[in-house]
Amino acid sequence: EKMPLKLEINGKKHKLSVEPRTTLLDLLREQLNLTGTKKGCDYGQCGACTVHVDGQRVNSCLTLAIMQEGKKITTIEGLANGDKLHPMQEAFVKHDGFQCGYCTPGQIMSAVACIREGHAGSEGEIREFMSGNICRCGAYPNIVAAIQEVKN
Ligand code: FES
Repeated sequence: EKMPLKLEINGKKHKLSVEPRTTLLDLLREQLNLTGTKKGCDYGQCGACTVHVDGQRVNSCLTLAIMQEGKKITTIEGLANGDKLHPMQEAFVKHDGFQCGYCTPGQIMSAVACIREGHAGSEGEIREFMSGNICRCGAYPNIVAAIQEVKN
């Protein structure tokens, strides 16, 4: 049976109705058509589904939508400012922080959190914080370079 849910996504208020077992990832992708957030493993192992909830990064595949009442969600679609890319998006482009691009939305959401949460002090610290975001193309050095550029 569906239950009511009110939350804010990328600055827009939503009144929804969700099954108690629906994940935040499926809510975003299937009910709201916000498909920038990717489903890699659906099991907390790859980071492709990373979004921010009240400014903190979470794996949306492990997060129940119904628990997000009143929260503010930011997805990759909410990062740019109109036509202007977020500085982290620009840095990923400049440093080739991707090849196939599937993991990129999650990488960028984690990268923004990495700096905001104060874990970008050294390359090692960045790699540690970013270790939950898997890139099968191996773009890791370029991703680290992008984060270092935005931080400086
Ligand atoms: Fe959520 Fe892989 S889809 S961690």
